[in-house]
Amino acid sequence: MSVGHEAAGIRIDRVTRVFADAGITALAEVSLDIRPGEFVSILGPSGCGKSTLLRCVAGLDTPSSGVISVAGVPVTAPPEHLGIVFQRDALLEWRSVLDNLMLPIEFRGGDVAAARGRARSLLKMVGLEGFEGRYPAQLSGGMRQRVAICRALVDDPKLLLMDEPFGALDALTRDQLNIELQRLWLAEHKTVLFVTHSISEAVFLADRVVVFSPRPGSIADVIEVDIPRPRRLAVRTGERFHGYSTRIRTLFEGMGLLKEDA
Ligand SMILES: Nc1ncnc2c1ncn2[C@@H]1O[C@H](COP(=O)(O)OP(=O)(O)OP(=O)(O)O)[C@@H](O)[C@H]1O
Ligand SMILES: [Mg+2]
Repeated sequence: MSVGHEAAGIRIDRVTRVFADAGITALAEVSLDIRPGEFVSILGPSGCGKSTLLRCVAGLDTPSSGVISVAGVPVTAPPEHLGIVFQRDALLEWRSVLDNLMLPIEFRGGDVAAARGRARSLLKMVGLEGFEGRYPAQLSGGMRQRVAICRALVDDPKLLLMDEPFGALDALTRDQLNIELQRLWLAEHKTVLFVTHSISEAVFLADRVVVFSPRPGSIADVIEVDIPRPRRLAVRTGERFHGYSTRIRTLFEGMGLLKEDA
């Protein structure tokens, strides 16, 4: 179904980001190589620099030192063929679902008519067939976020950046969207950098979970998730999944982040 852009690898090489005015070091010496087509979850406490890292990869912010390359090219501006999904969906209320999906194509001056077919099949994959002509205000929060994901994918990006895309959703809708995102990823094999606060969401979706330390954010551990796909939600009660979750929880406890006794 994809129209042929190769998934891009990402190289993050000793990236530090200091906000000098605020006296804050958000990221310290972060290095990470992401394979083309890999799904990487980034998990870490609030304020550890996850969004900052994503913004740097997207070319919306610049590291104070270190280099980020996408598909072998150092990032100095937003790379071509990049899809981004934020926690809040940023849909345009005055545009229909289908016309919201056409935005990235219009920005690039692409062929809107040719992209409609792909837009419709993406909407179908997330159960929104028949909603093309609706407006965002007529949709639930979960449906809006599905539209935002389809919009990020419609121009067939080489790289998909997702910053807590399901953080504002209820638990059931979130589970459903985890399943749908897995389905889309299996169909399209994009490189995905997925930020979340949820240990189980991070493990469920990822090839690797990168755990960040509190600010200044640095990589505390990288966990390979060896569970075959497609994964069903029930894997979350399995022994292997439990092992990964426990390892991450123990890391957070070691950082003093999870305390049972006040
Ligand atoms: N433009 C900025 N100017 C000054 N400080 C900033 C700026 N952007 C981020 N920061 C600071 O950098 C740190 C990291 O912020 P960031 O938004 O990357 O954290 P995060 O890990 O995404 O947190 P959360 O999980 O709460 O979204 C925070 O202390 C934040 O206050
Ligand atoms: Mg953030």
